[in-house]
Amino acid sequence: MPPGLLTGRTAVVTGAGSGVGRASALRFAEEGARVLCADIDLPTAEETAALIRKAGGTAAAARCDVSREEDVAAALAAAADRFGRLDIVFNNAGVPTPRLGAALEDHTEDDFRRLVGINLGGVFHGCKHAVVRFKQQGGGGVVLNTGSVAGLVAWGGSVYGATKGAVHQLTRAVAIEGAPFGIRANTICPAGMPHTNFMTSGGLDARPESVERAAQRIAATHPLGRAITAEDCAEAAVYLVSDRAANVTGIALPVDGGYVAR
Ligand SMILES: NC(=O)c1ccc[n+]([C@@H]2O[C@H](COP(=O)([O-])OP(=O)(O)OC[C@H]3O[C@@H](n4cnc5c(N)ncnc54)[C@H](O)[C@@H]3O)[C@@H](O)[C@H]2O)c1
Repeated sequence: MPPGLLTGRTAVVTGAGSGVGRASALRFAEEGARVLCADIDLPTAEETAALIRKAGGTAAAARCDVSREEDVAAALAAAADRFGRLDIVFNNAGVPTPRLGAALEDHTEDDFRRLVGINLGGVFHGCKHAVVRFKQQGGGGVVLNTGSVAGLVAWGGSVYGATKGAVHQLTRAVAIEGAPFGIRANTICPAGMPHTNFMTSGGLDARPESVERAAQRIAATHPLGRAITAEDCAEAAVYLVSDRAANVTGIALPVDGGYVAR
């Protein structure tokens, strides 16, 4: 078997208990990475790590609330201590607009603080501690963040979209500041993914027929004609964190079936 694209690398993935985080953790491990699966919901992160080990890979799990700087710093330290060094940090955890379809004026101060604290704060914490560690270690490193189509166009909620637009901008800054140190930073920007737990946690009816209707509605807005999956995002993630993307930094890559291009 030829070596994988990520053989010998250590990766931390946040939000690894579900959706994009789980699919990416599995793909990173398949490509040879040792993965620390971090999530606020520890049992689901443990499930992802168990799936990786069952497939012959190397993984551990940690409870981590990305809105808490000390949790994020501890997760990155745990990965480096356990696996020798840290090479990849995928800041993926995020939460949706509360109450499906909430307009700007429907957001409470608590809604605002939660969205900003997790979606932007979590990425800030992950970028900051990745950069600190990469500089201490030497030899560069890779940051990947999950933004959203909602940070590129007005879709998916006003405050949610604002946090994601900020993630895209923070990533560009990390890319430019990190470049002299061999640190790359990019964002993936998914369109609506009805099959992860994201939309149902935001209020979409979780019955399969209702999720399928949402998938069809979303697919109809995509030039390529189907809704995005966690696996679509995981493929983009593998590329961006691998050496195949060695000269790619500062981009916000839509994974959206052509949605923002139309
Ligand atoms: N699903 C979509 O429609 C969609 C579209 C565009 C972008 N995104 C983004 O993709 C990312 C992943 O979403 P998903 O669809 O896989 O959602 P998901 O709900 O399936 O998974 C999110 C994971 O993040 C975890 N999480 C939530 N709050 C956390 C916190 N404070 N600290 C650590 N972990 C936390 C959850 O426990 C869950 O395991 C998010 O950043 C989301 O904003 C999703």
